[in-house]
Amino acid sequence: MTEVADWEGWFQRWEAQQGLYLPERESRFGVMIDILRAMVGAAPTVIDLGCGPGSLAQRVADRLPGAHVVALDADPLLLEVGRRAVGDRGGRIRWVDADLRDSELVKRIGLNGAADAAISTTALHWLSPDELFGLFVRLTHVLRPGGVFINGDHLTFDHDQSRIASAVNRIRESAADDPRGPGVETWTEWWASIEAEPALAELVAERRSRWGGHPVATDLQV
Ligand SMILES: C[S@@+](CC[C@H](N)C(=O)[O-])C[C@H]1O[C@@H](n2cnc3c(N)ncnc32)[C@H](O)[C@@H]1O
Repeated sequence: MTEVADWEGWFQRWEAQQGLYLPERESRFGVMIDILRAMVGAAPTVIDLGCGPGSLAQRVADRLPGAHVVALDADPLLLEVGRRAVGDRGGRIRWVDADLRDSELVKRIGLNGAADAAISTTALHWLSPDELFGLFVRLTHVLRPGGVFINGDHLTFDHDQSRIASAVNRIRESAADDPRGPGVETWTEWWASIEAEPALAELVAERRSRWGGHPVATDLQV
């Protein structure tokens, strides 16, 4: 019997797992889309950099029915979860398998200076400063003049921002609820479950072969 993956289930478990690390995740998406619309209008062409299974791409497509999104990632498994669970939203999400560090990235995206925006959540901290610099240079060839880049990644505070850092830490500590409800997995647990799923064995193998030289994230780095 051929095994069939529960794509929607894996996507929902991804959402719950990510919410564990980002309790304000939905608000973060919302603010980013507000800014996107205010700066480039309600029908933008957008690239979601390091889209994973397309959490942000999905929200952009649903909140802005005129938007077109290129959802780009280098992880074949997460892309497949996205393709199957989120789909193309009526031809408005195009899934692209590409590495943000690839010198051919501009060609892979294929928008030739016509994109209104590049957006990203919790992905770009995976790149080294040099790789990030390379990406920013490539984005200048992907975005149109006046296009915007909105990065919703984790930010840390510099050594001279200790007052802000301690205020933020106090807010975090008092933000009561532990988002870990019953059955909510950690990043490590989610990946362990994926690796144990027979229907995903080929994608797991493909993923392993690609990320061979890439550092493996711990729960603290997600
Ligand atoms: C924590 S996940 C975030 C995914 C999604 N943006 C979200 O908010 O749920 C980080 C993503 O960055 C992607 N990523 C990391 N390095 C990458 C690279 N060099 N090229 C493309 N994607 C990359 C990973 O594959 C993963 O999907």
